[in-house]
Amino acid sequence: MKKWLLLALTALFASQAFAADPVTQRKEVFKQYKQTVGQMGKTVKGQAPYNKDEFAKLAAHLDMLAQQPWQYFPAGSDKGKTDAKPEIWSKPAEFQKDIDNYKAETAKLKQVANDGDLNAIKAQFNAVQKTCKACHDSFRQD
Ligand code: HEC
Repeated sequence: MKKWLLLALTALFASQAFAADPVTQRKEVFKQYKQTVGQMGKTVKGQAPYNKDEFAKLAAHLDMLAQQPWQYFPAGSDKGKTDAKPEIWSKPAEFQKDIDNYKAETAKLKQVANDGDLNAIKAQFNAVQKTCKACHDSFRQD
């Protein structure tokens, strides 16, 4: 076999193995949450100037991300390098409720960010952060 082909195949299999790991996939999305929320937080705390369009873009991005990591919690993915608590799988209705609350607050943040009232944005940003914390308190290992 030609060397380049072997290398290409190795890379292909390696990337598939990586993509197949749901723990890695959900953590990747949570890292993007942190980054996006961190950027918005600077504006909310007055450490960065408020730019309506940029903030609206970040809020829309978070709303898009909010749809994502939940499919990466298949049964049995409570093993290995994960901070996910077993309650995610033993209390699926409660977990789903926290997901729904979070999605609802994120959708509202996107709305108020489009409206552009900074005081409303600050209040709604805090509401979103509360839903992050609520879920972590119940479903994430410290
Ligand atoms: C409905 C539940 C839920 C909500 C809502 C939620 N998280 Fe999490 N988060 C988790 C769970 C569960 C883990 C642990 C994932 C794992 O280790 O497998 C986690 C992990 C994380 C991590 C660590 C990722 C890593 O690299 O290990 C960060 C950072 C994070 N969340 C940030 C946030 C932020 C910011 C928000 C809100 C904008 C948020 N989360 C909302 C459940 C949630």
